[in-house]
Amino acid sequence: MPAQIISGTEIRKTILSELQTEVAHLKAEHGQVPGLVTILVGADPASMSYVTSKIKTAKDLGFKEVQENRDPDISEADLLALVESYNRDDSIHGILVQLPLPKHIDDQKILMAIDPDKDVDGFHPVNAGRLMIGGDAVKFPPCTPAGIQELIVRAGVETSGAEAVVVGRSNIVGKPIANLLFAKGPGGNATVTVAHTRTKDLAEHCRRADILVVAAGVPDLVKPAWIKPGACVIDVGVNRVGEKVSEKTGKTIAILKGDVDFEKAKEIAGSITPVPGGVGPMTITMLMRNTLNSLKYRIGLL
Ligand code: GUN
Repeated sequence: MPAQIISGTEIRKTILSELQTEVAHLKAEHGQVPGLVTILVGADPASMSYVTSKIKTAKDLGFKEVQENRDPDISEADLLALVESYNRDDSIHGILVQLPLPKHIDDQKILMAIDPDKDVDGFHPVNAGRLMIGGDAVKFPPCTPAGIQELIVRAGVETSGAEAVVVGRSNIVGKPIANLLFAKGPGGNATVTVAHTRTKDLAEHCRRADILVVAAGVPDLVKPAWIKPGACVIDVGVNRVGEKVSEKTGKTIAILKGDVDFEKAKEIAGSITPVPGGVGPMTITMLMRNTLNSLKYRIGLL
């Protein structure tokens, strides 16, 4: 039987509508809306496209949205001062500095300067620590892993006691999704293996997985024969493998491929995310949730 296709596009709609209701309620009951500032340095096309989507989504939800675009030659000191000005601004609950930054700026120094209680990306070491502690300590889980967990839960996949295998050990996906999946509580309690480029028999590890999360950045890395029949497969890969002309807009767009051979894998898996339209749409959705939660923490509702 072909797999259940886990549509991030559909789940995003449901979550955004839940968030919109909450924003309206907060505005009516507490006279406040979540405030997000997006800081973009330079004009990298991919970064511009991400930031544009973040701004649009925030505005559609009724957030206060402040956009700060800076030239690529901004000094590190000026960027630090800009971040600091939003640390002090009470109408702003989330500060997002779009990465990558130009080479003359130390990314880590900038991320460390963001108030951890406004770090809605969840990249600050304080939030990495909170995630590792788990439970009520977790304030802002990083957006892509939080989105993956949401997809798994909303698809009705049982995580408790499941064998989960994560392929990839990055700070923004592999490590945090492993933490979320083995944490105590709903969407957690899995037994997690983290595999990486030095793992000896990757195929064998994948074959054991009830939940397989692949974030390796290698197109078609996971072969259909590596998938346990009925497993939940989450493909985080977004690999540009060529270009095509969009039928809708007539513009040239990238052809994207995941880390899993989707067409064959869907005949074996129990549930699977497509690329595009799986994990991708969830990242901005979770950024919005983190920003809303930041306001809720501030006014004592969380
Ligand atoms: N660049 C690519 N993805 C992200 C993200 O999730 N957050 C930030 N700040 N920059 C990014």
